[in-house]
Amino acid sequence: MYEILRARNTIALVLFMAAALGGVALRAADSSGNAGQEAFAQCAACHSTDGSNGVGPSLKGIVGRASGGAPGFAYSNAMKHARLTWTAATLDKYIANPQAVVPGNVMPYAGMSDPGQRSALIAYLSTLK
Ligand code: HEC
Repeated sequence: MYEILRARNTIALVLFMAAALGGVALRAADSSGNAGQEAFAQCAACHSTDGSNGVGPSLKGIVGRASGGAPGFAYSNAMKHARLTWTAATLDKYIANPQAVVPGNVMPYAGMSDPGQRSALIAYLSTLK
């Protein structure tokens, strides 16, 4: 079990680095693009917008959804028991500092520090119905 979790974390870390590099490339290629969609490049390696789960649960319909609520995704115990509703306010805090909001959750993402980038991202997430 421990080995499986470790392997999963390694894969997640590699994907995270790929996402970070991909984000840089995307920004360079399209500086006129939608800021929220552009910020989502930091999430897209792990999160789909179409309802399918990957390394992370799909973020389709995330605004208004209960935490730990994507059907079929194997959440950590921390996320299963977080008992949050993902609103603009809770998402803003979580994206800024995931470990502060849901201690022990296994999302390998350190946080997005720019408030403007977070609000553009959350506006984009709210379009994912
Ligand atoms: C390297 C992979 C990875 C990246 C990058 C990542 N996430 Fe996650 N995310 C996860 C995983 C894995 C979970 C499940 C955490 C758990 O079960 O503890 C998660 C959970 C979440 C949740 C809770 C979902 C629910 O159904 O309760 C939200 C919201 C979320 N991520 C948003 C984001 C956003 C927004 C970004 C980009 C800024 C992002 N994530 C970047 C892997 C990632």
